Amino acid sequence: YRRLRVALLGAGAVGSQVAALLRQHADELADRAGARLELAGIAVRDIDAKRDVDLPRELFTTDAESLIVGSDIVIELMGGIEPARAYLLHAINSGADIVTANKALLATHGPEIFDAADQVGAEVYYEAAAAGAIPIIRPLRDSLAGDRVQRIMGIVNGTTNYILDRMDTEGAEFADVLANAQRLGYAEADPTADVEGYDAAQKAAILASLAFHTTVPLDAVHREGITSIDRSMMDAARHAGYVIKLLAVCERLVEASGESISVRVYPALVDRKHPLASVHGANNAVFVQAEAAGNLMFYGAGAGGVQTASAVLGDVVSAARRHIAGGVGVGESTLANLPIVPIGRV
Ligand code: HSE
Repeated sequence: YRRLRVALLGAGAVGSQVAALLRQHADELADRAGARLELAGIAVRDIDAKRDVDLPRELFTTDAESLIVGSDIVIELMGGIEPARAYLLHAINSGADIVTANKALLATHGPEIFDAADQVGAEVYYEAAAAGAIPIIRPLRDSLAGDRVQRIMGIVNGTTNYILDRMDTEGAEFADVLANAQRLGYAEADPTADVEGYDAAQKAAILASLAFHTTVPLDAVHREGITSIDRSMMDAARHAGYVIKLLAVCERLVEASGESISVRVYPALVDRKHPLASVHGANNAVFVQAEAAGNLMFYGAGAGGVQTASAVLGDVVSAARRHIAGGVGVGESTLANLPIVPIGRV
């Protein structure tokens, strides 16, 4: 196999799992991608920081700029706007395809990054930027490209769903469950991003941009968090047959004057019979209503290191296939030749 040089920026909850899986499944990933994915290094701020998994010390560097040069694929999992933005532009202009989970960056500087990539024929993959492990970027961008999405209702923040779910099912208090969500690694470094709805608003901007084939700027997203929700509101909702969920609602509005788009994040009353009501814990779900396809629901882990690493690695394989195919189209994986279990034995 051809060798592709992969640079990883960031070794937090997701980054360290991506590095571990890249090494652990190296042979299988080579078969899938048609290229050996060689982890050239991991750029971090502090080489001695405590990590979720053990990785060889010699992989770490504080010199992201040098690591990027000569890389075929750059994975950015640092989060935040700077220096992530500068590194990604540097990567694109150095000839790399990029994989990022950086919702804050894409929601605020998406057009700049996409334009820079377009100019040099690079590709930007960001399946992990919204709803963690759930495949939702490709379905909206590709699978539904022939349809017209009318509405998306998403539970796109694991931390707040975890908090509201525990308050609803266990009668827990807000502060206690937030501390738990932080311990479990769901919450952002600053949990204000979760509980005030900023994280969900960034994801809503990304999903709405894809669904409606436009650019929805973050400041066009109406945002309310869950900090004003207390036990008495949860109880009142339950008695009326509802559950309170932080929803991201992205809608195409059709009026006599023409079509417009509305994107809102707010704590909503969800009928207990609606599929979104049964999304528990830190899970996410994205309910999509499309003109021809009807109702679709995408469900799974919306947060968590190893879960989100799955979406990142899928992007890395896609990027590698594109490289192998010479930058056009998508290559195919080698068949794994696994035995087929006879019917009746499963
Ligand atoms: N803090 C985020 C959440 C992580 O709770 O959903 C995934 O983006």
